[in-house]
Amino acid sequence: MTDDVLLVHGGTPISGEIRVRGAKNLVPKAMVAALLGSAPSRLRNVPDIRDVRVVRGLLQLHGVTVHSGEEPGELVMDPSRVERANVTDIDAHAGSSRIPILLCGPLLHRLGHAFIPGLGGCDIGGRPVDFHFDVLRKFGATIDKREDGQYLTAPQRLRGCKIQLPYPSVGSTEQVLLTAVLAEGVTELSNAAVEPEIEDLICVLQKMGAIISVDTDRTIRVTGVDRLNGYTHRALPDRLEAASWASAALATGGSVYVRGASQREMMTFLNTFRKVGGEFEVDEDGIRFWHPGGPLKAIALETDVHPGFQTDWQQPLVVALTQASGLSIVHETVYESRLGFTSALNQMGGHIQLYRECLGGTPCRFGQRNFLHSAVVSGPTKLEAADLVIPDLRGGFSYLIAALAAQGTSRVHGIDLINRGYENFEEKLVSLGARVERPSAS
Ligand code: EPU
Repeated sequence: MTDDVLLVHGGTPISGEIRVRGAKNLVPKAMVAALLGSAPSRLRNVPDIRDVRVVRGLLQLHGVTVHSGEEPGELVMDPSRVERANVTDIDAHAGSSRIPILLCGPLLHRLGHAFIPGLGGCDIGGRPVDFHFDVLRKFGATIDKREDGQYLTAPQRLRGCKIQLPYPSVGSTEQVLLTAVLAEGVTELSNAAVEPEIEDLICVLQKMGAIISVDTDRTIRVTGVDRLNGYTHRALPDRLEAASWASAALATGGSVYVRGASQREMMTFLNTFRKVGGEFEVDEDGIRFWHPGGPLKAIALETDVHPGFQTDWQQPLVVALTQASGLSIVHETVYESRLGFTSALNQMGGHIQLYRECLGGTPCRFGQRNFLHSAVVSGPTKLEAADLVIPDLRGGFSYLIAALAAQGTSRVHGIDLINRGYENFEEKLVSLGARVERPSAS
């Protein structure tokens, strides 16, 4: 198979300008929110990525008409004829994404039942969905687990409830929001996640008529309403994609202006970027990131929920850390298996050692559980080209960065996975002067 392979001729700094659009981790959820409205919704700044296509397909299966709006990247979704979808049709989306689970609440409200196929998403840990189903049961849903998926029903209108999440999970917080807004009475969610994408989803729901407050102690209160309208909303920019390009600029010794990047949602990343030795300049339309020359500095890094250092920033930045002088320590506290991608960096000449202990920072959930979730990166190391197989979305982008920074030509397999979350990444790479090509079929 050559059609899922990219040849990357490395050793040249990337330089130029690219643009990021709406956040992958908000847009599909805002699309799900449209299901709750009694009138059409208009979402702007929608990137053309696979996760968006999957949700578009799922909405259409449930009778929502979805079409492009007047401006590029605008979607108009009309949920006035929501209907039961054929289980086999829904099942065709099994394994494609993790978003289908967020359709539960809205479908239970609209139809009284929902079917959720096996989920997809990146293999970066066990990725259980126990919190989601616990939450839905508390609202009054019944869940029947069968071989092909989960069948949910709401015998009566779902009722608001008190929920305490065992961990501030992003998806479970979104599950609560999307369910509580039309539930009867008040829902109080403690230990909620408060990522910027969640705040933006709250803005979407508030525009629709929801009543939601967020307290300083991570408690979210939702007063259920009987009816929601449509919304018009411009999705917040993708801070994770922006950081990926910033890391690519740093690791290759280049300079990238990321049009659309927003400082407010990237503050923690920007502090770390500066500590490593990267420079950036913020203007009204975006942020320019560059390597100023000279050695980069080793750092200690711990991923965490917002406002901590986002786990999705970790993998791309680790590639840049292979170029920093000294020992960097990375402690991954959100996913138990998000450091496996480093074995390929070692194959390319990196020196990264993984540990089961919590290194640096505070002990986390994984310290006592035998997970290789800490890393020591010693640098700088020269990277050499290799044959690479993409393991997951961010790990995959990290391999692209490593291949760009390495001497020689790397073959990167499984490249299509990157389309799940990075819009037009090949065109962007080419526009930044990266020497990438599809191998010719022999
Ligand atoms: N968790 C459970 N049970 C659950 C749900 C989560 O134990 O029912 C655990 C997870 O195993 C994990 C932790 O809670 O250890 C956090 O998971 P969370 O629910 O926050 O993650 P998610 O909602 O599945 C979203 C993003 C991820 C991002 C995380 C953390 C989407 C589609 N995905 O995942 O993005 O890393 O939040 O911010 O929004 C990516 O963009 O590459 C990506 C993986």
